[in-house]
Amino acid sequence: MNRVNQLEPLNQEHESAIVFANKILIIAKSEDRKVLFNGIETIKKYYNTELEVHFQHEERTIFSPIFKEHREHIQMATALLKEHGFIRLLIQRINLQNANKELYEFATVLKNHTHIEEKTLFPLVTSLFSDEQLQAVINFTPVEQY
Ligand SMILES: [Fe+2]
Ligand SMILES: [Fe+2]
Repeated sequence: MNRVNQLEPLNQEHESAIVFANKILIIAKSEDRKVLFNGIETIKKYYNTELEVHFQHEERTIFSPIFKEHREHIQMATALLKEHGFIRLLIQRINLQNANKELYEFATVLKNHTHIEEKTLFPLVTSLFSDEQLQAVINFTPVEQY
């Protein structure tokens, strides 16, 4: 397996994150409370079944080695880590009363975050990480099962 392919599972999760965010952007325009309610439920389910695990995967196997061994890129990793925190916060506070605004905000932040990781972070990881560090990305298993 070459070095680029080792990020493939995360690339695929990013593709589905973009598709998901686009779907939420459409729902965010709805004036139907039932549609908005279902949109919120969909986000919570997506977070619990996919997104939290994806975040942990990146935090443990990508951000952590950057903080420890590639400190020249610490600023970028810190910014992306803060966005994970912000997205987690958005999901906690999302409610039907401000659903249009909050669904839009969630989808926009997730989409931008994912684009930055694909365009800036992952090429860096591929060129910078040791074989062992890349292997750890592939070998990741989440501590908690959702
Ligand atoms: Fe991320
Ligand atoms: Fe990501």
